[in-house]
Amino acid sequence: MAEKVWQKRFSQPLDPRVHDLNRSLGFDNWLAPYDLQVSTVWARALNRCGLLSEKDLKAILQGLKDIGAEFEQGEFELHEADEDIHMAIERRLGELIGEPARRLHHGRSRNDQVATDLRLYALDHAGKIRQALREVITALVELAGEHTGTPFPGHTHLQQAQVLSLGHLLLAHAWSLKSDNEFLDRVKQVTSVCPLGSAALGGSTAPVDREWIASELGFAAPSDNSVEAVASRDFVMDLLYGLSRTGVHLSRLAEDFILWNSQEFGFVTLADTVATGSSLLAHKKNPDMFELIRGKSGRLVGNHTGFLATVKGLPSGYNKDLQEDKEPLFDSVDTVLQLLPALEVTLRGVTFNVERIAAQLSPYLKAERIVQYLTGRGVAFREAYGIAGSLVKEAESQAVALEDLPVKVFQKASPSFEEDILTVLESDWEIPAEGVMGGSNRKSVEQQLKQLRDWIKR
Ligand code: ARG
Repeated sequence: MAEKVWQKRFSQPLDPRVHDLNRSLGFDNWLAPYDLQVSTVWARALNRCGLLSEKDLKAILQGLKDIGAEFEQGEFELHEADEDIHMAIERRLGELIGEPARRLHHGRSRNDQVATDLRLYALDHAGKIRQALREVITALVELAGEHTGTPFPGHTHLQQAQVLSLGHLLLAHAWSLKSDNEFLDRVKQVTSVCPLGSAALGGSTAPVDREWIASELGFAAPSDNSVEAVASRDFVMDLLYGLSRTGVHLSRLAEDFILWNSQEFGFVTLADTVATGSSLLAHKKNPDMFELIRGKSGRLVGNHTGFLATVKGLPSGYNKDLQEDKEPLFDSVDTVLQLLPALEVTLRGVTFNVERIAAQLSPYLKAERIVQYLTGRGVAFREAYGIAGSLVKEAESQAVALEDLPVKVFQKASPSFEEDILTVLESDWEIPAEGVMGGSNRKSVEQQLKQLRDWIKR
């Protein structure tokens, strides 16, 4: 195995089993484009403060560019002896340009290097995820726009509670995902701090211009404390949390659709392009996409909580434990970036079975109308509520709908009832045109659609 850069400090080579555990190259090659970007700016920063000649700078920049092309073409070779992506790139740079490559790491440590690389990765991918969320929200808004006036059973305790506009219910999911999108924007803000120039932990010995470095790399500012800069993975925790909360929201959405797709509900039909069959039961058509979304949210939560446990208890400064930041982060990012487009296309393949939904509305949901009728005639709410409850009990014991009870039963329950109560109860469900802001009335749903459409365009 090739010699380690630090081998001169040691009298014996590293045991291969220890090397295997130490090595992060199996997963950190994701960082290659960011590492090349960071090294490019670092070389220029050294040149600006007189630590690297124009000639060496030119050679380094060309070498880094060539390495970038090798990665793009899938030609970059990882060597068994390379410890991580940073050492692999340094090794390759040496092979390509020789001596100047040995000047690049002046005043820098892998500690500030990896922290900077990973922040760039996080910023880039948080942006990609925000865009993918926006597309799912768009699909939800389009579906909701078709159903602003569709009466739908709203559940609490998984019991039919109130008739809602289906559009309103679908938008509830859109709002949750919008809040995830905005959370990720806040994560981007806290991530946009540049550790480069912090070196191992005490700050670089090279008199580099850290403001310039930060701005060249697109960060909002350089970090304020070198010890914190190399040891902090707050941005990883925040991004993992952002992705786990997204996962939780996606899972709840998926659960709604899984229920609605069951024979018992029968509220939705999935397009053949987004459902799957069974290897044994010939009639099956399964909502696997929604189940996988629900299932994979588990690992998003696990990656977040697992990483909190990794960081808890670490002493100040960089510790190798921090190398464990990458796999959970990359896994969560990849998972969410896989789920969101699949969800978008699945939502576009959903049809709501409006007649079946109407037929499944419990007749006793109309108890709300009785309460409104009575309070409209001056009966105190609690009184009206009790009367409505007793009428539901009566209708249920006779296994009939409320409007099938004779008027005299109503009038026995309260003298405020007149004949017209039956007309009130018989009419079909309609989503009211007006009502409280943020409620399930058409005006509010239209208002929400407008807000979300404007937001999507921004
Ligand atoms: N591969 C390492 C990581 O991911 C890079 C930093 C190594 N630093 C060190 N002092 N050994 O964290």
